[in-house]
Amino acid sequence: MTDHADLTALRERIQRIPGLDAAALEAEQIALLGRKSGAITELLRRLPSLSPDERRAFGAVVNELKVSATALLDARREELNAVRRRGGEAPDLTMPGRHRWTGAEHPVTRVTDEILGIFRELGFAIVIGPEVETEWYNFLALNFPPDHPAMDLHDTIYLDALPVREEQGVGRLLLRTHTSPVQIRTMVTSTPPIRAVMPGWVYRNDPFDASHAPAFSQIEGLAVDEGISFVDLKATLVHFARRFFSADTKVRFRPSYFPFTEPSAEMDVGCRICGGVGCPTSKGTGWSEILGCGMVHPHVLQAGGVDPERYTGFAFGMGPHRVTMQRHGVPDIRVLYEGDMRFLEQFTP
Ligand code: DAH
Repeated sequence: MTDHADLTALRERIQRIPGLDAAALEAEQIALLGRKSGAITELLRRLPSLSPDERRAFGAVVNELKVSATALLDARREELNAVRRRGGEAPDLTMPGRHRWTGAEHPVTRVTDEILGIFRELGFAIVIGPEVETEWYNFLALNFPPDHPAMDLHDTIYLDALPVREEQGVGRLLLRTHTSPVQIRTMVTSTPPIRAVMPGWVYRNDPFDASHAPAFSQIEGLAVDEGISFVDLKATLVHFARRFFSADTKVRFRPSYFPFTEPSAEMDVGCRICGGVGCPTSKGTGWSEILGCGMVHPHVLQAGGVDPERYTGFAFGMGPHRVTMQRHGVPDIRVLYEGDMRFLEQFTP
């Protein structure tokens, strides 16, 4: 007669079936249910020799063992087959989920595209110029006197290792310090009417700090035609500010100086950060400067091969990095260069 301990051991074996590998599973199938000497088969074989009462009670137990062993063996076999078909282990459903990063445009890229889009609506073409420039395009053609402090090593990165082409009268090679030289290139290669915006990187011999970077972006603008006046400049730039910021944006022009424009001005908008009340970003004034502008100096038209007796023009230049800081209230320009996901993720759509 089979004792209680044997049945308990058999139950435990059956419980272990879900952990068996393929070879152990087939061995266990035979060891438990094999026709000749399976452990459960043996028990079943004993039933006819028992009394009717014993047979009823013991038969129920053995039958239950047979049913559960068969179910677990079949289930485990199916599971192993499924893993084989998939070509690997079953996934561990308790593992933490995989984080999927959502890509997004850098805020400066987005601001740049928005600015260019507003000028494209007004019929401005997008023109790209080189980042390596000559002294001629970067300074002299833009009416900088040859001893202007901006041309100092202190402010400008010269590429002394590259061959100097003095014979062409272009001066030394340098990394452009602004996008204004693209004005000259645009005038030289086209005829008025001209309406162009010129985006790109510019370089200055400045160390990184909260408000300076050795490389940053600018967007230059140029309109040249017969009869262009300061009214065209103002109307265009006020329209831009209201489209870019909001329809109720306050705008003001202050007189300024640039060698390549006469008269020259700077345009301020009511500070977005403090709402015009005064804050560190707007240096307590409630206004923040977003661009420089002016009527193109006759010497500059001339350098571009445009007749200053017949044509006039306006120009402007602004910095998308600065505009981005202004729009999003970023107090330190370095944040726009660091690629810190905690900052950038705030701009995911
Ligand atoms: N080039 C100037 C700078 O880098 C910006 C600028 C001012 C551009 C006035 C212009 C302009 O076209 O009219 O600071």
